[in-house]
Amino acid sequence: MTTTKDEFTQFEHAGWERVADKYDSVWSSLTRQFIPHLIDDAKVTAGMSVLDVACGPGYLSATAKELGAIPIGIDFSEKMIAIAKEMFPDTPFRQGDAQELPFEDRSFDRVLINFGLLHLSHPEKACAEACRVLKSGGRLGFTVWAGPEQNPGAKIVNDAIEAHANLDVGLPEGPPHYLYGEREECRQVLQESGFDGNSMTYETRSVEWHLASPRYFFEAERDAGVRTAGLLARQAPEKLDAICIAIENGIERYARANEVVLPMAAHVVVVSKN
Ligand SMILES: C[S@@+](CC[C@H](N)C(=O)[O-])C[C@H]1O[C@@H](n2cnc3c(N)ncnc32)[C@H](O)[C@@H]1O
Repeated sequence: MTTTKDEFTQFEHAGWERVADKYDSVWSSLTRQFIPHLIDDAKVTAGMSVLDVACGPGYLSATAKELGAIPIGIDFSEKMIAIAKEMFPDTPFRQGDAQELPFEDRSFDRVLINFGLLHLSHPEKACAEACRVLKSGGRLGFTVWAGPEQNPGAKIVNDAIEAHANLDVGLPEGPPHYLYGEREECRQVLQESGFDGNSMTYETRSVEWHLASPRYFFEAERDAGVRTAGLLARQAPEKLDAICIAIENGIERYARANEVVLPMAAHVVVVSKN
């Protein structure tokens, strides 16, 4: 595989290889909830060729296949691809970088990216690559997390980190955590990537994430995350404790009898190629 080996990409790659086997049990109950929105908004129908970029364990490809579309999933993590092939043996998956797609120009009707762009050192490059491999009239659809003001779950983690973390720990610089949080900025990037900015739809969707306990989110970030995990791993013990307590306290208000029901929100963006 050819990879853009900048420092952030290397950091992300090592991180996803480390946590790939935890992704399905820890995060998929959250990320999968946005797939129906993405598929609907992008108007995926039977017979369409669909490229699932940053596919992880392959959920979006599997959903597209159930609809009668013809998906292929791509992810730069060898372990994620192995897991995807095991989970969905009838669907093709291959290793590759979102910023350097190993496909011919004008190959796909749809390119969909569920929570992938915010993990890339150059998300705008991935948008341009998506445009290149789309057929004329094809659509790119992606999700990015909504910022803390619209996203109660993210606000809890964000506030805890802002209040207690040492941010100066030498992590490689990556894109904003709440990438494309502004509609017009997003339209501009997509327009510059070759899309028809006027065709863009930008919907903010909320879901309920059911957690076993108020500590779940902190442990998920620490043990099965990549970027936040890197930050947490570099904190002094007392700071880590303070972050953990702040997250738990923030989550308490969403506790029900035997679980926590945490609202989480993402922007679902779809745009057409001219
Ligand atoms: C948050 S997970 C999303 C997985 C899946 N799309 C989902 O719906 O749950 C992010 C995925 O992006 C992949 N990824 C990160 N950087 C990538 C890159 N440069 N090229 C391809 N995949 C990448 C990771 O390996 C990981 O599987």
